[in-house]
Amino acid sequence: MKSVNETSSVEYANIATQHTYNGEEFPAIVVNSTGCKTVADTVEFVRANQAELEAKLADTGSLLFRGFPLDSAEAFDVFSAGFGYPNFTYQESLSNAVRINFTERVFTANEAPKDIEIFLHHEMAQTPISPSKVFFFCQSAADEGGATPLCRSDKLFEALKAEDPSLANDFKEKGLKYTTAMPAADDANSGQGRSWKSTLSVETVEEAETKLSELGYSWEWLDDGSLKAITPVLPAVVELGDGAEVFYNQLIAAYKGWKGVKENPSSAITFGDGTPIPKEGLERISELAETFTFDLEWQDGDVAIVDNYRTMHGRRPYGGDRKRVVLVALVASDR
Ligand SMILES: [Fe+2]
Repeated sequence: MKSVNETSSVEYANIATQHTYNGEEFPAIVVNSTGCKTVADTVEFVRANQAELEAKLADTGSLLFRGFPLDSAEAFDVFSAGFGYPNFTYQESLSNAVRINFTERVFTANEAPKDIEIFLHHEMAQTPISPSKVFFFCQSAADEGGATPLCRSDKLFEALKAEDPSLANDFKEKGLKYTTAMPAADDANSGQGRSWKSTLSVETVEEAETKLSELGYSWEWLDDGSLKAITPVLPAVVELGDGAEVFYNQLIAAYKGWKGVKENPSSAITFGDGTPIPKEGLERISELAETFTFDLEWQDGDVAIVDNYRTMHGRRPYGGDRKRVVLVALVASDR
C-alpha cells in the first residue's frame, strides 16, 4: 500500500445514481486510495491535495469523502478544521433549528423527529447571515432512509428560467421576505423550534429588539411569548463568480415544511415587495427540484462538503432502531 507522502493523487469513485452536469459527476466521490489510516493521515491527504479538491468542489457543488478513518465528532472536527476555513458557529447563526454542539465547530444537523422530512434549502438563506460551505459527517447511518438529498440549484434555476421566464424574473428582481415564529422556549420536536433568546443570542426583549433592528427585521410579540419576525428583503437568486445563477433561498423548505405555509404561503413567504408568490409556481419549483436531486445514502464515516451556494440540501425521513447521527460544521462566508 502506498503511503500518503508518496502520492498526492485524488481518486474518484462512481456510483450508478450519480448525476452528471457539464461533464462533472454530481456529487464527486473521493475515496481513500492512498491508505490513510489515521485522522492525521487524512488531514495530510487533504492538505496535499487541497487545490484539486477545492477546484472539484467549485465545479460540481458537492464532494463526498468515503472510506476515510473518521468515526467521531472529534475526528470530524479535526478533518473539517484541516481545510483552514473560517468557522461559522451555531451561536452566531440565526438558524431556526434546535441543535446540540459537540465541539466548538461541530453540532447536530437537526434534532427534528425521524419521520419529519426536511425539504431542500440553502443553509440559512432565510436569514441575512449564511455559511458558504456545509460539512456533513455521518457518524451512524439509519437502518432505513435518512438520505441527505442534494440539489443543484444552478440547474434548477436554469430550468425555471426556460419554463417560466416571468416568474424567474420576479424572483430575481423582487427578492423575498420571510416571516418566522421564534418560540419562547426551545422546542426540539419542531424542525424550526429554536427559541428567540437562543436564535438572537440575547436574554431580554430589549436586547432582542436592538438585534432585530440592526439586522433590518420588523417584528411582533405574540401573547404566548413567541416572536414573529419578518426579514428585510433577501435575495431569491444569487449570481456566482462564474456567472451561474442559483436559486439561493429557503422557498421549497418553507413552502413544503413550515407549519401552515402550504395552505397559506403568504403567512411566511412573499416577494420582497410583499406581494404573494403564486402557489402553482411553488409547486412546480418543488417538483422541478427533484429532477436535479441526488439522494446521498450515507455510510458510516462519510463526510460530504456541500457548496452552500451551488447546492441545496435536505433530510429524508428515516426509520429503524439504529440512531442516525449526522453532524455538521459550517464555514463562514467571504462574500
Ligand atoms: Fe440545513
